Amino acid sequence: MSQDELERAYEILGRDFANAGRVSTGIKDTLKGMGIRPDLVRRVAIASYEAEMNVVMYATSATLTLRVTPSLIAIDISDKGPGIPDIGLAMQEGYSTATQEMRELGFGAGMGLPNIKRNADEFTIDSAVGEGTKLSIRVRLD
Ligand SMILES: Nc1ncnc2c1ncn2[C@@H]1O[C@H](COP(=O)(O)OP(=O)(O)O)[C@@H](O)[C@H]1O
Ligand SMILES: [Mg+2]
Repeated sequence: MSQDELERAYEILGRDFANAGRVSTGIKDTLKGMGIRPDLVRRVAIASYEAEMNVVMYATSATLTLRVTPSLIAIDISDKGPGIPDIGLAMQEGYSTATQEMRELGFGAGMGLPNIKRNADEFTIDSAVGEGTKLSIRVRLD
């Protein structure tokens, strides 16, 4: 790996509301520290925050990897969890299965996945019910 490349892995725990947001804050600080353009840092921070919160709310655990090369920022999240039975439905703005308790904490607007897609240059989501969900998020640097 050359000097201007970076790869880091983070663990996210389901239901861990006390630490929720720490991984995406860490990513934001890392990218800022590398001198990445603020508008791109912001897009990655929004996408990674929404992905992190979905793990906290809906999954059991996940590994997130951040990779930065001269041409892109890549985030891959692979979780163990219930999976998503209907991805088309989950991608719709306003669709949420958040509980009353989560809604009282201010979550469950159903805008997370659409926001990830909007902020990414490339976005893919794959899910297997009863196994888990994988997200791939790319923001181009060049
Ligand atoms: N990692 C995940 N594992 C299981 N289900 C998920 C995951 N991420 C999203 N979902 C499902 O997709 C729905 C929509 O997600 P999202 O757009 O982020 O909205 P919200 O988080 O506000 O519910 C969630 O309510 C949930 O049913
Ligand atoms: Mg969400």
